[in-house]
Amino acid sequence: MIEIDNLSKKFGDLTAVDSISMNINEGEVFGFLGPNGAGKTTTVRMLCTLISKTSGNARISGYNIGDKDDSLKIRKIIGLVPDNVGLSEHLSAYDNLEFFARVHDLSKTERKERIQYFLEMLGLWDKRNVSVGTFSKGMKQKLAIARALIHDPQVLFLDEPTANLDPEAAKTVRDFILDLKKQKKTIFLNTHNLDEAQRICDRIGILNTKLVSIGTPKDLEDAVRVRKTVIELEQVTDSVLKSVQKLSLPNLDVEGNTITFDTIDSGSKNWPIVEAIVHAGGHVNIVKVVGSTLEDVYLKLVGENQ
Ligand SMILES: Nc1ncnc2c1ncn2[C@@H]1O[C@H](COP(=O)(O)OP(=O)(O)OP(=O)(O)O)[C@@H](O)[C@H]1O
Ligand SMILES: [Mg+2]
Repeated sequence: MIEIDNLSKKFGDLTAVDSISMNINEGEVFGFLGPNGAGKTTTVRMLCTLISKTSGNARISGYNIGDKDDSLKIRKIIGLVPDNVGLSEHLSAYDNLEFFARVHDLSKTERKERIQYFLEMLGLWDKRNVSVGTFSKGMKQKLAIARALIHDPQVLFLDEPTANLDPEAAKTVRDFILDLKKQKKTIFLNTHNLDEAQRICDRIGILNTKLVSIGTPKDLEDAVRVRKTVIELEQVTDSVLKSVQKLSLPNLDVEGNTITFDTIDSGSKNWPIVEAIVHAGGHVNIVKVVGSTLEDVYLKLVGENQ
């Protein structure tokens, strides 16, 4: 559905996106992660034909982003929720959607039906006649989502759609994304929310100007394979602390009543550590070995590629 070949973008001397190649399948929810300034928004803007590429190419549904005629076709089949929502502040919620629906040549009946459907779905129907200038960030964000979907696009680009939302509204949007997935829409999601990415994305790409890694959340976690031993105590006393410090444990970290370190020999060497803690008068409540999380993977990969 989206094919990207060696796509690059330079702004003067600055390379914002460096020769990325990847494919996104129809009906896939693809998460794009990366630190601030990694080039996520730039990539999305190139794919949505809002800015030109410097080199390489990308196709959406077979249409080339660099081609003028194809660009118009691409714009008909995609929807974008940009990072800055860019709504008309002086217009009401309803009229913002009405404007976009007209731009996309929807009939009067279609406009009426779809606008009502989305405003109700996103909990904005009661505010339909209120001017958007008075909306909270979250309400604007929701309206921008409705706007991006008004013409029923096949591919939806979302640039940090839950960034301004309260937990309940963020969940509404995530559920909405999963609903769209059921309708076989292709979704390209820029996010900083690792938990969100893990929960709703089929695959994740990690960008740091270059594409650092790509795979399912599980692939990425397995690739890094950090396992941590977590020991929770009643209290980490000075003598407990001294006893564990003597053991030279890899990446030892003490936070509150919890001691964490990289697991040695798959956990088979945990007992001498627990014994040392008990010997130092520590009361151990819980010992567990946890696998690497997407956050571990992200921090490791981005750290290695600075
Ligand atoms: N119009 C522009 N002119 C010059 N430089 C730009 C322009 N747009 C983006 N950049 C630069 O390109 C780089 C990538 O920016 P981009 O907005 O794509 O990052 P991002 O991954 O979306 O970051 P964030 O997570 O903060 O949204 C940054 O160094 C940015 O300063
Ligand atoms: Mg961005």
